[in-house]
Amino acid sequence: RQKIKARREGVDHSIQCIGIIGAGLMGSGIAYAAASKGIRVLLKDISLEKAHQGKSYTERILKKRIVKGESTASEVEGILENIQTVSTYEDFKACDLVIEAVVEERSVKGQVIQEVQQYLRKDALLASNTSTLPIAGLSTNSLQPKNFIGLHFFSPVEKMTLVEIIKAKETSLECVHRCIDFVKSLGKLPIVVRDNRGFYTSRVFSTYITEGLYCILEGVRPALLENAGEISGMPMGPLEIADAVGLDLVCHIHQQVHQDTGEEYSEVYDVVRLLVEDLDRTGKKAGKGFYEYPEEGEKYLW
Ligand code: NAI
Repeated sequence: RQKIKARREGVDHSIQCIGIIGAGLMGSGIAYAAASKGIRVLLKDISLEKAHQGKSYTERILKKRIVKGESTASEVEGILENIQTVSTYEDFKACDLVIEAVVEERSVKGQVIQEVQQYLRKDALLASNTSTLPIAGLSTNSLQPKNFIGLHFFSPVEKMTLVEIIKAKETSLECVHRCIDFVKSLGKLPIVVRDNRGFYTSRVFSTYITEGLYCILEGVRPALLENAGEISGMPMGPLEIADAVGLDLVCHIHQQVHQDTGEEYSEVYDVVRLLVEDLDRTGKKAGKGFYEYPEEGEKYLW
């Protein structure tokens, strides 16, 4: 802990205004994390309405803090004022850093990167929050690969401290250092990882989820599986982690890895797909996945 505290000190606060593209689960969480540290946030999605929905995620977290006595109404107002929803990339001229957090589709990310960079200042950094796609591949869409980097936050962003920083071959060290400082300024812990598919955490956790699903197909009771996960020191059981990531994203990533690398497709994901496509159970964000998440009261296994 002391080491972490020491590393958090001496932060260069050169990133004062960030742009976020994609105001879904991750984009709105990153907006909250930055705005609550006094950083100005410009939030964009495919429509202003969607961007507003992302901002209301922050509002909901903050209202809970007021109820718990952790924040005052005026503090909350100040944080919300730091988040501005925008409809065009023109506004991103003011940004020191832009983070894309759109859907995990290589083509959509590529298009967004190409579009936004025309509006960025030369010294502005551009980051992807991808959970699996190699940064070197995405950076081919960038005019300034030295300023292109991976910044991989985790869900729920307001609670998770770790952020992976992914340096591609052409990413400059200056860019890496500025991002390390940015992550520290959010009170989070940066780790620099290799530019592999899935980096570190997605590789480890996808194995945890896949093996957990196999255990269930082999007859292990879900409650036992979840308890065993927590007792062994993991933050959550594999099913709860899958719910937190989003079951739609979990399926998509598995399918994409299979297509890109030829790695074997696990039939356990057909079960997850059923939950998503037939029952609309996409995980915690929808209030239902492997667990039920009632508005009031504790979650429980479905
Ligand atoms: P999400 O589906 O909740 O949000 C994606 C948002 O992007 C949606 O609001 C969508 O309208 C928007 N979008 C799509 N195309 C767009 C475009 N062209 N311009 C602007 N906005 C656009 O997805 P989520 O879960 O927030 O994931 C976003 C990224 O973060 C993905 O790359 C994912 O792999 C990554 N990630 C997700 C984690 C998770 O636990 N869900 C954890 C870490 C990374």
